Amino acid sequence: MADADQVLELFPRSGQRRRLKNLYLDQMADLPKDGLPFIYSNYIASLDGRIALPAEDRHSHQVPPAIANDRDWRLFQELAAQADLLITSGRYFRQAADAETQSELPVGQARDFDDLRAWRLAQGLKPQPDIAVFSASLDIPLETLEHYRGRQLLLITGKQADRDKIAELTGAGQMQLIQCGDGCGVDATDLKQQLRRYAYRRVYAIAGPSVLHTLASGNALDRLYHTTAHCLLGGKTFDTFVWGEQLQPAFALPLRAMYLDTEAPPGCGQTMAVYGR
Ligand SMILES: NC(=O)c1ccc[n+]([C@@H]2O[C@H](COP(=O)([O-])OP(=O)(O)OC[C@H]3O[C@@H](n4cnc5c(N)ncnc54)[C@H](OP(=O)(O)O)[C@@H]3O)[C@@H](O)[C@H]2O)c1
Repeated sequence: MADADQVLELFPRSGQRRRLKNLYLDQMADLPKDGLPFIYSNYIASLDGRIALPAEDRHSHQVPPAIANDRDWRLFQELAAQADLLITSGRYFRQAADAETQSELPVGQARDFDDLRAWRLAQGLKPQPDIAVFSASLDIPLETLEHYRGRQLLLITGKQADRDKIAELTGAGQMQLIQCGDGCGVDATDLKQQLRRYAYRRVYAIAGPSVLHTLASGNALDRLYHTTAHCLLGGKTFDTFVWGEQLQPAFALPLRAMYLDTEAPPGCGQTMAVYGR
């Protein structure tokens, strides 16, 4: 195995070299046996905590090209390959309508991920994970859902969300409705119980900082995969990976594993850490 294919395990077995490919496919074998969905998320950030900056010539924020890299992207896809359900946001579909999304929802159709799609089938999973959309505004362009018609789509919102918009999105069985929380937005406190009714086991949250905050404040986040690219980006307008009211008490995520990748991004490398259960 060439060095470039490897990462160095820093914790728990310090000093062991591990193959990057399938590193994160390895990690879901020992899920808790409580029968509840296991919810995990994944971010890449710079050393100064930026996950997104304003995109050039666009009005949205995107993952900065200085930190986005194929090696981290492969791990992102491996995590998706194991999922029964993805959690994304209304924002993703609005950006899709503006053709501003950085990519299709995983698992990617690129040849590089043929093995992951085949792996899903070999495990008895559906060809692609189902998709849950967190939204309070329910401002989701219907035409953007077309591309994902082959997958079960869930709309997750609060009990006070607009009824007409709910009817439009759930009409003709387009989306299944789950309502969590007494306001317009999702309170994730009973999200796991609700998802359990659909027999989802592995749930991968790939939305952004407000969704992650919602999961943490509802005690619904089990594991966080967090890549840190070893560079500073600066910038006065940026996203970091949790946004919302202060979490009190602090949401504890003990370190499970950490790997050093010296190959990417060029000139700085990255550490890949796994926190939580
Ligand atoms: N570097 C990385 O690893 C990484 C990972 C993920 C995202 N990002 C970037 O981060 C930036 C921000 O992402 P984002 O806007 O998707 O993040 P977000 O802040 O988590 O999601 C925004 C949308 O999610 C919905 N939402 C969030 N919390 C909700 C709740 N409690 N109840 C109901 N709906 C809720 C809302 O949709 P409605 O407006 O429809 O109500 C909200 O507008 C993007 O530029 C993205 O590319 C980077």
